[in-house]
Amino acid sequence: MLELTSLIELQIPPVVRFGDGAVKSLASWTADKGFKAPFIIADAANKDRIDLLGLTNPTCFTDVVPEPSIENLDAAVAAAKGCDLVIGFGGGSAMDIAKLVAVMVSDEVAFADISGPHRAPARKVGLVQIPTTAGTGSEVGTRALVTDLATMSKVATESVHMLADVALVDPLMTVTVPAPVTAATGVDAMAHCVEAFTSKRSHPIIDGFALQGIQLVGKFLKRAVKDGNDKEARTGMALAAFYGGICLGPVNTTSGHAVAYPLGTRHKLPHGIANALIFPHTLAANAPVAPQKTAFICEALGFSASEPAEICKKAKAFCEDLGLDMALSAYGVDEADLPLMAKEAHAIRRLLDWNPADLSQEDIEGLYRAAL
Ligand SMILES: NC(=O)c1ccc[n+]([C@@H]2O[C@H](COP(=O)([O-])OP(=O)(O)OC[C@H]3O[C@@H](n4cnc5c(N)ncnc54)[C@H](O)[C@@H]3O)[C@@H](O)[C@H]2O)c1
Ligand SMILES: [Fe+2]
Repeated sequence: MLELTSLIELQIPPVVRFGDGAVKSLASWTADKGFKAPFIIADAANKDRIDLLGLTNPTCFTDVVPEPSIENLDAAVAAAKGCDLVIGFGGGSAMDIAKLVAVMVSDEVAFADISGPHRAPARKVGLVQIPTTAGTGSEVGTRALVTDLATMSKVATESVHMLADVALVDPLMTVTVPAPVTAATGVDAMAHCVEAFTSKRSHPIIDGFALQGIQLVGKFLKRAVKDGNDKEARTGMALAAFYGGICLGPVNTTSGHAVAYPLGTRHKLPHGIANALIFPHTLAANAPVAPQKTAFICEALGFSASEPAEICKKAKAFCEDLGLDMALSAYGVDEADLPLMAKEAHAIRRLLDWNPADLSQEDIEGLYRAAL
């Protein structure tokens, strides 16, 4: 944990518009900035409502798939040639692709030339992000994740040039998200906050966002799952996701995401479900090392527990109450898969090195076994 006096840098978009009707301001912003060739990047759920953005004759790439691959990214880059503004309109998958397209479209660079930290060239086109799920918080950050199908790993790319010029967070864009996706993406938002809050590099400036984000999830996620049209709950979750995105910037996630990643890459589980399956187990594993912060998390989610086994049980019940099946085996994960998954997860040092508890490969295999 860093001290209050420790230096930390927050990078968020210079303009954030949050609330009802935020998307309606896109057309005037685009005209004011003089952009003439907007290019929209959307997923299947949003491709039939591009007109909501109010732009005249935008070009579009609407084939973003969940957990996108480098091939999916390359197709979007090819379609974007000649644009002067990239607009991500969708869940984290579409927004992450938009970030990468924005830095790749003007220069002849391949993904391999820019992947990883701080290698992307300066952006020559504008970038707007419009989230339509309440989960990743990608709209506020500098990072993008795509899957390398050759190695079955998620490749994280990070650059200040991938930060949006404007983020338009309009919670009403999320009312159409089906209940299971609402639950899974909401747990992802919570996981960003929880893991940043307990990280070894947690910082008081981020802790405030993190704890408020967890409280919002405790208050609103179940309501948003039960009634997708509950506007207050949708707004609370959009804010939780936004706070989670702020947490990802300077602090980022730890063991929850690292242990969840092989479920996404190997078993094709959606990012949020993978995180939900792992969340109770890493929360409990970290509890002895971060007891006070774990107690705050449990309280914010509406339960109290002190022993790891009880924490795990109650955190699992919180997720089950959202309608999520919390057994790995229900998603086709086999006991024989666990050693390789543990090896892969343990190698994700960029996250695990900041986990409060030091988890060995055997420990991680044990977490998978407990979640099976
Ligand atoms: N950049 C970051 O910091 C960051 C953080 C966390 C996760 N991610 C990445 O983001 C991706 C996951 O994003 P996600 O969880 O938002 O899921 P997603 O973008 O893959 O979307 C999930 C599903 O919901 C649909 N959908 C989106 N908006 C909808 C709406 N309004 N109504 C109905 N359906 C809708 C999509 O079409 C898709 O089928 C993963 O690739 C993950 O690795 C990125
Ligand atoms: Fe995440």
